[in-house]
Amino acid sequence: MCGIVGYTGPKQAYPIVLKGLKRLEYRGYDSSGVALMNDGKLSVYKKKGKVAELEDYMIGKDVSAHIGIGHTRWATHGEPSDRNAHPHTSANGRFAMIHNGIIENYAQIKNELTNKGYSFTSDTDTEVLLNFIENIQQHNDCSLEEALRIALKRVTGAYCILLVDSEDPETIIAARKGSPLVIGVGKGEHFLASDASPIIEYTKEVVYVNDYELAIVKPNELILKNLGNEKITPFITKLDMELAAIEKGGYDHFMLKEIFEQPSTIFDCLRGRLDAVSGTITMAGIDQHIEQLKAANRILIIACGTSWHAALVAEYVIEELCRIPVEVEYASEFRYRNPIVNKGDVIIAISQSGETADTLVALEKAKENGAFIFGVVNAVGSSIARISHAGAYTHAGPEIGVASTKAFTGQLAVLTMMALSIAIQKGSITQERYQQLLTELQDVPEKVDAILKNADELKVIAEVYKDASDFLFLGRGYNFPIALEGALKLKEISYIHAEGYPAAEMKHGPIALVDENLPVVFIATKDSYHEKIISNMQEIKARKGKIISIITEGDEVSPGLSNHVFSIPPADELIAPILSVIPLQLLSYYTGVLKGIDVDKPRNLAKSVTVE
Ligand code: M6R
Repeated sequence: MCGIVGYTGPKQAYPIVLKGLKRLEYRGYDSSGVALMNDGKLSVYKKKGKVAELEDYMIGKDVSAHIGIGHTRWATHGEPSDRNAHPHTSANGRFAMIHNGIIENYAQIKNELTNKGYSFTSDTDTEVLLNFIENIQQHNDCSLEEALRIALKRVTGAYCILLVDSEDPETIIAARKGSPLVIGVGKGEHFLASDASPIIEYTKEVVYVNDYELAIVKPNELILKNLGNEKITPFITKLDMELAAIEKGGYDHFMLKEIFEQPSTIFDCLRGRLDAVSGTITMAGIDQHIEQLKAANRILIIACGTSWHAALVAEYVIEELCRIPVEVEYASEFRYRNPIVNKGDVIIAISQSGETADTLVALEKAKENGAFIFGVVNAVGSSIARISHAGAYTHAGPEIGVASTKAFTGQLAVLTMMALSIAIQKGSITQERYQQLLTELQDVPEKVDAILKNADELKVIAEVYKDASDFLFLGRGYNFPIALEGALKLKEISYIHAEGYPAAEMKHGPIALVDENLPVVFIATKDSYHEKIISNMQEIKARKGKIISIITEGDEVSPGLSNHVFSIPPADELIAPILSVIPLQLLSYYTGVLKGIDVDKPRNLAKSVTVE
């Protein structure tokens, strides 16, 4: 959460920082600000609201500077406001700082500083940390770098910070623990950001800064050190990403673009891995660890949000194909209880961003206990990808809309390939079933394309129900997690209260909600549960609920029970969730848009949840 960006070099810093903030806005958008330094004069500008409001506010201001830092905020300490926006300035006005993360012991440090006569202009933990650094610098009469190092040894929590010093007009000092930082290496210039999107336009050479590292960044020099003041050689990575991937490409919203990209993102995910003709799946991360995976006594899958829903689908698929017990855990719960992780257990971590704090810390904990960790991650080079022992990228490309769409279908594709690989090598499925599922998986991009051609049908349904106050999403078996995902998407993007339930469980409580005003979405594709879900539809119809059904083409029964149907191509029940989720993504998208909501940046949310 929160996006940070910095520039030092010969170009004008402000346009680079502002553009970077727009690219990082998905990480938080309740306020934003910049600090610009020109000839040792430090100017800080900040504004409540989205980056566009900062941009308007800056009109007419002197923005010339060759060094600048900028921040777009997702509030933790202190409400969204001008005064809580970053950058913060130290009490003596010499330093400015931006921060992504949470300083957990800020109250204690604030107390100490208050006793020393400090007062604060904001409610943030960031201002406390900055003044703590200032106080150490003054007290020890040391460099800012040294003061920062001392301060960071005292703080607990997570941070990625960028600091500028009005007495050092070309240096940005950065540090990270638990929140991401990428440094772009240009010719006589450096770019700093929370992810590569603000950097890609200028250079493809980047350095991913690790936890407990400090970077001293000047136009012509990048020095990395650990907190013990030892130098570390920066490892330069080449970005495999094009600028077009982070632009809207003619779509009204990133979310719509990302939904429509799914035929190609799923294809990219399968490409070079799945070959239905030769009957093979080649995934280095799996092949190199196949003995361990085959022999797993238990698989534990850890994730949050939409990635957690992918984990639930994987639970059904892996247990069915591999006959290995699977448990799915919310990362936030796993990290704080005392989970039992035994030798022989395999942990799968699923994350789009690869930076979700709860997932990251849960994995660190499991790793300390000796667990083997397999990461299913979208963001290349992210923290979760790096902490995993092995893994497979989803290759969905940058996902910018806050609501996860293409990353989810990529996760399902990877997890299904993983299950198939383990199952065939373990001998828990027949060659015939394996071959059939490979072919089905290979056909998915084409079927998604066919679904997207009928997207307008969902727009019509969204128009009918956009003013509903509640929605129920029901599914069984492989489609139960899709019901949860449909409900989450609708809540996030349209602010309509929605519940996802296993269709049969509905009788045990939620059925009390059903009346003639309640839209109930059934994910009722043709599978082994179909007759059962038809009975559940009857139960809703008998109580006058409005039924919207996602069905398989050719289903002649469901339309008679439904107020609206949307058909998807036939698919094996294991593969169907990758298809049945698409209409639900579109239904949420159109509902949100019809309600006038900024679907790429819905209220209170941030794309990458890097605080617990
Ligand atoms: O980046 P991650 O996959 O780890 O993120 C997990 C959740 O924060 C994320 O899926 C969230 O629920 C999305 N906004 C859902 O659309």
